[in-house]
Amino acid sequence: MSEMLRGRVAVVTGASAGIGRATSLALAREGMTVVLVARRGDRLEAVADEIAAAGGRALACPADVADEDQVQAIVAQVLDELGRLDVMICNAGFGIEGPIEAHTTTMMRRLMDVNYMGTFFAARAVLQIFRRAGHGHLIVVSSIAGRRGAPYVSGYAATKAAQIGLIEALRAELAGSAIHVSGVYPVSIDTEFSDVMRAASSAPTQPTRGPRQSPEQVAAAIVRCVRHPRPEVYPHAASRLLPLISAVAPSFCDRLMQRFGRRPEHEPR
Ligand SMILES: NC(=O)c1ccc[n+]([C@@H]2O[C@H](COP(=O)([O-])OP(=O)(O)OC[C@H]3O[C@@H](n4cnc5c(N)ncnc54)[C@H](OP(=O)(O)O)[C@@H]3O)[C@@H](O)[C@H]2O)c1
Repeated sequence: MSEMLRGRVAVVTGASAGIGRATSLALAREGMTVVLVARRGDRLEAVADEIAAAGGRALACPADVADEDQVQAIVAQVLDELGRLDVMICNAGFGIEGPIEAHTTTMMRRLMDVNYMGTFFAARAVLQIFRRAGHGHLIVVSSIAGRRGAPYVSGYAATKAAQIGLIEALRAELAGSAIHVSGVYPVSIDTEFSDVMRAASSAPTQPTRGPRQSPEQVAAAIVRCVRHPRPEVYPHAASRLLPLISAVAPSFCDRLMQRFGRRPEHEPR
């Protein structure tokens, strides 16, 4: 339990599974009231029950982050019922895999709507509140794939890079104020992400051979960032080097990504 965070309110999107679920449980352990957002209401209720059973406080708010009205309604409900909103964690997202020819326009638009527009809607809704309050923290869970594009997830990497453009611009606008903006760049994690990606895609790929981490490790890094705001969070420390390698030696980095990244299912390693 953190005295600094006790009683503060965090909204976590994508709280029904994976990183969002682990982060919600971890923030509740710190004494924060956590607003759980995702589409599957039954899953959110289960996370809320788990938090309540451990002595914490959570509110389940089912919503699709790609729907602007639903995002605004949740922010309004939080202010109405809890009276404050201190931290917004934009984490909801999914991926599609395969060569670009297998990315249909419909799939790509949906990917952009959820991963980027969902972040934009939430950021725009909370920044007005943070400006009025004079403080607040926007945390966006992007991906190392947004920092450095990876093979056979081109559409996904583009949405994650779009999130980075948004957060870096906002950070520069708000530099020196008490409103913080942070980007989180995880590497591969064993969550439902891979299953959802496979189900959403028509051209399955082999998993990466790069480093992996647990959702709890990512959640712990996010909690540290809530306690002590930082511009960038690399839950897997060595992955911070990837954008540097890419800046200095982009072609070498391409080959590195090819060696360790995804490739079509039937292509030999
Ligand atoms: N897993 C990885 O390897 C990895 C690596 C780097 C970055 N990331 C990023 O980390 C974030 C979380 O991923 P994860 O690994 O925890 O995946 P996950 O286990 O599949 O969880 C994704 C979460 O997002 C929610 N979600 C998806 N679409 C939504 C929508 N339209 N509206 C509201 N909620 C929605 C899902 O809930 P519902 O289905 O109930 O809506 C679920 O709670 C994503 O942004 C992902 O891009 C993941």
